[in-house]
Amino acid sequence: MPQFGDYSKYYNLLYSDKDYGGEARYVDSIIKRYAPHAATMLELGCGTGRYTAEFASMGYRVHGVDMSGEMLREARGIQNSNIELSCGDARNIRLGEKFDVVAALFHVMSYQSSNRDVLDVLATMKTHLADGGIALFDFWYGPAVLTLRPETRFKEVEDDEIKVSRVAVPVMDIGKNRVAVNYTAFILNKRDGNVNKLRETHNMRYFFLPELELMLDMLNLCIVAPLGWYTDLYPNNATWAALMIVSK
Ligand SMILES: C[S@@+](CC[C@H](N)C(=O)[O-])C[C@H]1O[C@@H](n2cnc3c(N)ncnc32)[C@H](O)[C@@H]1O
Repeated sequence: MPQFGDYSKYYNLLYSDKDYGGEARYVDSIIKRYAPHAATMLELGCGTGRYTAEFASMGYRVHGVDMSGEMLREARGIQNSNIELSCGDARNIRLGEKFDVVAALFHVMSYQSSNRDVLDVLATMKTHLADGGIALFDFWYGPAVLTLRPETRFKEVEDDEIKVSRVAVPVMDIGKNRVAVNYTAFILNKRDGNVNKLRETHNMRYFFLPELELMLDMLNLCIVAPLGWYTDLYPNNATWAALMIVSK
């Protein structure tokens, strides 16, 4: 399971170049296509609330859930009355409410590395999905992961106070459809010159469509469409991230 402990302090800085606004508009266009009446959204794995804020600004009433109190602390700083937040596990949280859209975005499903975890999150999606609504989640798409292969990556970002230099070393576990991404980050405090070192391993699962089809079928969920993330096309071996759209 993910850690997102100390890492959460630097999360927004590390992803300051991510186009949450554009991606949220893309997701909104899909919602408008398949569930045009949608007004409420459950966002599983909302993290620091970057998508949550975008969807809330578009007028959705969003309930964000994350298991990391540290990530949620950032999200709680967002001032928007359309947002409600709960700390909980997407595998078993039960809010006693239905939503027009249930979403899990930016690899949340790929953090569910066992079949049981995936089935449990899908069951949570189904339980909270209103009739006529859609659930959607992105995931690492197996054919692309095996074709492109994960690479060691280096990222450096800074603000007025700190500079974060992060290396991500992936180790593939082909037999388990999983990649262990070993992060090492050095955080330079610009004021006093101190450097902190942080290590986290994130186990990311990649999925193939037949296994997702089987899991969704087991839960009586229907596939509306699989797409390459941020595209309108069927996923292919160059689309590392794919989007699954599901209905009851
Ligand atoms: C890569 S972050 C994405 C956060 C946010 N969706 C975003 O786009 O910035 C993955 C998030 O999923 C959360 N997460 C993973 N598995 C979870 C689970 N079973 N229940 C609740 N949160 C989970 C982690 O705590 C983390 O905040």
